[in-house]
Amino acid sequence: MEVVILSGTSRIASLAADAIEALLRRKPDAVLGLATGSSPLPIYDELARRHDKDGLDFSQAHGFALDEYVGLEPGHEQSYREVIRREFTDRVNISEAKVHTPDGAAADIPAACEAYEEAIKAAGGVDLQILGVGTDGHIGFNEPGSSLASRTRIKTLIEQTRRDNARFFGSVNDVPHHVITQGLGTIMEARHVILVATGAQKAQAVHNFVEGPVSAICAASVLQMHPHATILVDEAAASSLKLADYYRHSYDNKPAWQGL
Ligand code: GLP
Repeated sequence: MEVVILSGTSRIASLAADAIEALLRRKPDAVLGLATGSSPLPIYDELARRHDKDGLDFSQAHGFALDEYVGLEPGHEQSYREVIRREFTDRVNISEAKVHTPDGAAADIPAACEAYEEAIKAAGGVDLQILGVGTDGHIGFNEPGSSLASRTRIKTLIEQTRRDNARFFGSVNDVPHHVITQGLGTIMEARHVILVATGAQKAQAVHNFVEGPVSAICAASVLQMHPHATILVDEAAASSLKLADYYRHSYDNKPAWQGL
């Protein structure tokens, strides 16, 4: 796990976009794992900018969303299919047919979850997964108690997450109780994960998953077992890290050839 403490969101977005750009140049048909929430938005802005300005090409790329609400009517503006379309895929030249979200409106949810796992496999697996983290340490919608080996499945949101996400819906009463999320075992198979966290409200969660025990009570802590996990945080989100000076020192003295 590499922790990189940066001065602000634009630095975070630009480093994450560098990694995605390098991947696409090396492997134009790369499979990108797409996250929602507000944390990845500056990355999508930066990728859209590079697409417009430098012609960064997504025409052969694939995208898989991490998660989706269950029970929103198709086309609901807060469904993650719509959020990802609006915030990212409509702004670059990725083909719509290659962008997938779990089907939260499926009549047979377990079958939809299995189909999602199969689709990821058929595309060759996720090359680079973007992640945010919830205040309770969730990634995707893997709430506390999620099996560290879990696969794509239905989950029930805890009330804190529903309250956190109410800002997108207007009222907490409109936030669904159920979601489909890639499991922690699914996320762990991505070849590279980049988790971004900003703001003081994430400081405790960042400390817990980076420096606490690996435990289902803090789902993101499973990333301690990932062979290539990059954690990009701003100063506020890094403010509870015990080894912040060491992370800074390591990054400042990193061999130039290493990249993220
Ligand atoms: C949601 C998403 C997560 C995201 C989290 C944090 O619950 N399912 O993927 O990481 O919120 O969101 P934010 O980045 O807005 O704090």
